[in-house]
Amino acid sequence: MTATALAPADQLTRDVLARLAEAPDPRIRETLGALVRHLHAFVREIAPTESEWAAAIDFLTRTGQICTDRRQEFILLSDTLGVSMLVDEINHGRGGATTETTVLGPFYVADPPDVEAGGDIARGLPGAPLFVEGFIYSQSGAPLAGAIIDVWQSDDQGRYDLQFDDPGQFFMRGRLRADDLGRFSFWSIMPRSYPIPTDGPAGALLAAAGRHAYRPAHVHFRISGAGHDDLITHVFVRGDQYLTSDVVFGVKDSLIADFEHRTRTISLVGAPIERAHRYLRYDFVLPTASAATVAAQ
Ligand SMILES: [Fe+2]
Repeated sequence: MTATALAPADQLTRDVLARLAEAPDPRIRETLGALVRHLHAFVREIAPTESEWAAAIDFLTRTGQICTDRRQEFILLSDTLGVSMLVDEINHGRGGATTETTVLGPFYVADPPDVEAGGDIARGLPGAPLFVEGFIYSQSGAPLAGAIIDVWQSDDQGRYDLQFDDPGQFFMRGRLRADDLGRFSFWSIMPRSYPIPTDGPAGALLAAAGRHAYRPAHVHFRISGAGHDDLITHVFVRGDQYLTSDVVFGVKDSLIADFEHRTRTISLVGAPIERAHRYLRYDFVLPTASAATVAAQ
């Protein structure tokens, strides 16, 4: 053995990396190589007992087993460990004139029910009436006529419809379309701060870390328009007690807005509202399509 010989563990890491060096796809090669280097360094650092490693494998097994088409535990893990926001920052940390982004979260439903302008997504659920309206703009400054706006939020008890006892009916979500001037509006009820589901492995991890599970109250938006990248974001309720400790690290200052107490509003389309309500006005600015998006279309 020479003076420069590697310790057995280091040699093992090199052997594994060498085995990946011939992966035909360069991105796969890069990704698997980084995974092995960081994973081996992590294991070396914590030096787990065999029973601890078995517990880690069991944790990931249970994380997969609890997932269904209405429950996504891996997203919860990614969110609560800050990885979802890291991916968001890497892909959308553009700053500038477009609306800031945040996590999609585990409660998005593709193709939600259509809601006409001014329609009510609460569909009769109790709560403080909330009227939401605004404009959708392009980064170029032009209104984005016909933009598709998916909205979803918690109810007055902090629950999403996917968590209701009677699944299969949609509440607190819908798909709107911006009008020719880029305007949108809908009725809802005030969202409430809520704990992410804690009855699975992600919740156990939070408890083990001594962390609370709450998200500050918010309304989700996913907005798409021709020639533009999709915008995935929330608008948070100013004053919520969890704004500075969101369990998924999703809050950005520009996404916190006043949900005003009002007794009268003249809406953007000129219609009078003569009842007590909360009022949110928020305009969104979508980025023009990135080169990658254009190539994919
Ligand atoms: Fe949410």
